[in-house]
Amino acid sequence: MKKFNPVVPNFPHMLHGGDYNPDQWKAFPEIISDDFKYFDKANVNTVSIGIFSWVEFEPEDGVYNFEFFDKIMDNLAAQGMKACLATPSAGKPHWLGIKYPDILPVNEAGVRGRRGGRGGFCKSSPDFRRKIHDLNTAMAEHYKDHPALGMWHISNECCGECYCERCQNNFREWLKKKYKTLDAINAAYWNSFWGHTYTDWSEIVVTDKSVHALILDWKRYVNDLLADYIAWEAAALKKVTPDVPVTTNMMETDGIDYKKVAKVVDVVSWDSYPRWHALGDAHMYSGIKTAFWHDRFRSMGKKPFMLMECAPSFNSWLEVNKGKKPGMHKLASMQAIAHGSESVQYFQWRKSRGGFEKFHGAVVDHCGRDDTRVFKEVSEVGAALAKLDEVVGTMNVSRVAIIYDIENAWALNEMAGARKPKKYEDLCLKFYKPLWKKGISCDVIEACDELDSYDLVIVPALYMADDAACERIAKFVENGGTLLSTYFTGWVDENDLCRLGGFPGGKLAEVFGVWSEDLECLHNGEKNTARMIKSVDGLKDSYEIIEYCDLLHTKNDDVEVLAEFADDYYAGMPALTVNKYGKGKAYYMGFKNEGDFMADILGKLTDELGIKGAADIELPENAAITMRTDGENDYLFVQNYNSNDINITLDGEYFDMLEDKTVSGTLTIDKYGIRILKRSAK
Ligand code: GAL
Repeated sequence: MKKFNPVVPNFPHMLHGGDYNPDQWKAFPEIISDDFKYFDKANVNTVSIGIFSWVEFEPEDGVYNFEFFDKIMDNLAAQGMKACLATPSAGKPHWLGIKYPDILPVNEAGVRGRRGGRGGFCKSSPDFRRKIHDLNTAMAEHYKDHPALGMWHISNECCGECYCERCQNNFREWLKKKYKTLDAINAAYWNSFWGHTYTDWSEIVVTDKSVHALILDWKRYVNDLLADYIAWEAAALKKVTPDVPVTTNMMETDGIDYKKVAKVVDVVSWDSYPRWHALGDAHMYSGIKTAFWHDRFRSMGKKPFMLMECAPSFNSWLEVNKGKKPGMHKLASMQAIAHGSESVQYFQWRKSRGGFEKFHGAVVDHCGRDDTRVFKEVSEVGAALAKLDEVVGTMNVSRVAIIYDIENAWALNEMAGARKPKKYEDLCLKFYKPLWKKGISCDVIEACDELDSYDLVIVPALYMADDAACERIAKFVENGGTLLSTYFTGWVDENDLCRLGGFPGGKLAEVFGVWSEDLECLHNGEKNTARMIKSVDGLKDSYEIIEYCDLLHTKNDDVEVLAEFADDYYAGMPALTVNKYGKGKAYYMGFKNEGDFMADILGKLTDELGIKGAADIELPENAAITMRTDGENDYLFVQNYNSNDINITLDGEYFDMLEDKTVSGTLTIDKYGIRILKRSAK
């Protein structure tokens, strides 16, 4: 198994640092000089600079000034550090909006946005594109040989849509390219409904929320434009510095289809802000969700990724902004590394003195000291990361994948019917959690991804799938794969047109061998039961049902009914089925459950398939083991998210990388603690 190259070429270290805004402190040279002393103390080796600094780089149209940042770059180089140098499109100067008002985005109501704020520009504006292209080119020319230039950080959480006439017309052109004829788009949109038939392309009302397929296409268009915009910024940089990697920081949202953006950057990076220490189960729910999103971003690039931002302590935008309790910061940081990150970067290095985020957590607070708890804990993370050079380039290897498809999320959210909200991500997490608990690595992929490398694929509520995706899933099972899917799957094609002949439709009808007559919805608090009618190893006699009951019929006698509904007018109808298809098996779960069924069925299926967790170590609740490997050595990250210490019994001898010693037998993991254990690869 080959190791991946470090994300910053020739810098084979875990990256540690974060967003650094020295231009806010130009009038305070002593503070900047403290920063550089503190970088060393906190074991910081990489900072993201220039994110909002357009006006510093280009104080007036066409006049560039890199003097201030030259000093910063030189200082970084002198300390052997790297810059994740940002293109400053998220911080557009006032002069730009005044001189070129057309760069400002227009909202749905047709009102052009004001200057100020951040981000917020029209991605199809030729002026904006020309200006950022020229600035990026100038920056790349200026810094191309600078030893501190590690990578390019394009914009900041770039997103947003614009409804200006140009964007609307571009969208209509996009539609023309896709559908070619009005007949085709009218058919795809089922436009005879409510008399929406277009007789000319100009009639398309971009904002019509009653046409689901139109909303989907608009989102696709906005996403294509985003990817095209990022590619535009990247092209200017790549022309001058072809070997310097580019990234752009992504977010945990189902609003953006990042897989398209991932294709135009070299490194996938994302910003993670979990709600640690939320009350009750919410703490761990957030923790598992974060693991899921780490896996999603790793799976998107199919290689190690970067954690580009996290809060070193407090946020500023939650209702209750809690600090991370002692240990939690290191644990959360190592969780990212465990799932494939090659960095722990913060928002923000130093708290700004003024401005919108002046009370957002930072490594260095307004007190300016290096003896705060947060500073010390950040330094500990830096020291720990410095011990992990050999983990750089290793990977998580998954035989299991969950399909969490963003276009499907859009379609489900728009769908009028069944229950509200659809809780798609939550359903995926109910399948993800038992795998996480058992230390079974799981990729989080999309319906367009290849499935060949997996043995078990979980497809929760894939309401919308095109024929190609259905074919791919069918092939996977035919070739011997095990498929586990649920209610809602296979309802509509990529245009949100219902598949005829019963759901799940298309090729999936054959794969599952069932058809659903209706999807019955339960009120909150209302329950039904899935009663097993066959005894199946690993499954209990019955399972409580919440929210959804898919009233199934089998298509032929070969389809095995494993459980039926116990109550109500559909009692006795199949609730859980399995169908042998080709060399594989397809399970259909016609109900929703809080999670114990997911744990049991996945336990059974992974046992049958010989898919094992990272180690044979029993763990209590809220603890997990995640593994990276290079085929020679395995690196096990043992995480304790509990507020109490835990003892575990090791299944052999390991080398504890943070403690620098060999360990075996019983090991105590402190509350909110982490151990990184190395062994020869199994
Ligand atoms: C991120 C953003 C940062 C900062 C941070 C606060 O989404 O990229 O610039 O605003 O949130 O948590």
